[in-house]
This record gives sequence, structure tokens and C-alpha cells, in this order.
Amino acid sequence: MWPYPKVLAHRGGGILAPENTIAALRCGLAQGFHAVEFDVMLSKDAVPVLMHDYEFGRTLAGTGSVAGSTAEALTAMDAGSWFGAEFSGEPVPLFEDAVAFCRHHDIWMNVEIKPVPGMEALTGEVVAACCASLFADVAVSDAGHLPLLSSFSVTALKAAKSAAPVLPRGWLTERITPDWKSQCQELGVRALHTNHESLTPELVRQVKDAGYGLFCYTVNDPQRALELLRWGVDAFCTDRLDLIPADF
Ligand code: G3P
Ligand code: MG
Repeated sequence: MWPYPKVLAHRGGGILAPENTIAALRCGLAQGFHAVEFDVMLSKDAVPVLMHDYEFGRTLAGTGSVAGSTAEALTAMDAGSWFGAEFSGEPVPLFEDAVAFCRHHDIWMNVEIKPVPGMEALTGEVVAACCASLFADVAVSDAGHLPLLSSFSVTALKAAKSAAPVLPRGWLTERITPDWKSQCQELGVRALHTNHESLTPELVRQVKDAGYGLFCYTVNDPQRALELLRWGVDAFCTDRLDLIPADF
């Protein structure tokens, strides 16, 4: 059974706000979203921050990289202006501050562990340990109130499992490969997270019959969302918070 919400705001607030910021979480919340996906990466000093890209240039102005910058430097950067002047000065959030915001506002989290290449194990370990400590007051049996950790990096997922075995995990994969079941078993994940574009009703049935949760990214067309849910997909994230309501 899937104990989590069905529709998640992708990267915090989808198209409504600069991705992976507190402003994005606030915009999603204003739209009625109490479920969110965001990306977490380590700074140079191994502090988890919300960020999607390894390098500056898109959401952060200038040149440089997340792995080459301290958390203090990153949190002083402007992660909002690229999106719109009204978000100017919106900082890169620390992961712990994003979690605090979400917990305060009862927002459930899918935490995507997004390691800089070469930092997979450390990122999985640090993010999971940080999560375990931030959710130490939540009972393991209360699955719906624990975050779901996911990653494209098998190494990061294995490290997360060692660091915080009680936290639920999902394996992110661009497409469902023939070895998906053995990979899920080896990783001890409870869910498979995949791009919706290559899904078929038969694949959905196989994953569900094997007892795994099935999550899709990133679904922006309401008709496609309805089709996926009809096939048995448990949940998806979307950028189109304006087209797909939280209670879809
Ligand atoms: O977690 C699902 C989705 O966010 C993966 O793609 O690149 O948006 O992190 P990306
Ligand atoms: Mg992501």
C-alpha cells in the first residue's frame, strides 16, 4: 500500500516559483500542495542544500559549482532572480531549513538525493543521517509521516540504507530495465520511481504485483496523469500546479 500523497509538487513549486527554494515550497502550499519533491546535494563542506544542477549558470548566476562552494557561500547566493525579479534574493536553502518548513506546514517530502559525481556514497550517507536525525521523533511505523528518500544513484541509495535503514527509499530510474526486480530487492527499496514516458500498463502491473510502490516523474498533462493513475501508478510529481490540483 502507498501511504503517501498522490500528487507532488516537483522541485518545490513546479512552474510557480524558482525551483528548490523555500519560496517554491510556499507557492506550492498556497496552491494547496502538502506533498513535494526536491533535490538535495552536498556543499564543499558536506552540508546538504537544495539544488538540482552541479554547476552554476542556470539557477545561480556566474561560474562555479556546488561541490566547490561552502554552505555559507551557497546560502548567500541568489537562487530566485533567474526566475523573476519578485524572487530576487531568495537564498539556496539548507536541507534542514527546508525540512523544518515542511514539517511546520505538514508537507510530506520525497527527498531526491542528487550527488555530485564522485560524491555518491557520502551524499547518500549524509542526507540519510541528517533525515534520520530530523525525524527522530517520528515512529518507524508512522510511514506516512516519514520522508521517502530516492536517487538515481545506486551507490547513494546503498549508503543511505546503511546510514538510516529505517527510512523508506525509492530507486529512481529513467526507464524500467529487465533487471528492475532484482535491483529493487538488492537495494531494499519500497518504491520504483521512473519517467512516465516509457511506462506501459503491463510494466505497471508487474511492479504493483511484486508489491512495490510506483512513482512517476514528471507528469504535466492532466489527461496523461489520469491514464497513469488508471493503470495503477501510485503517485507522480508535476510542474503544472496550475493545471493539476493537489487533490486530483
Ligand atoms: O525525482 C524525480 C525527478 O525530480 C527526477 O528528475 O532532474 O527533475 O531531478 P529531476
Ligand atoms: Mg528531482
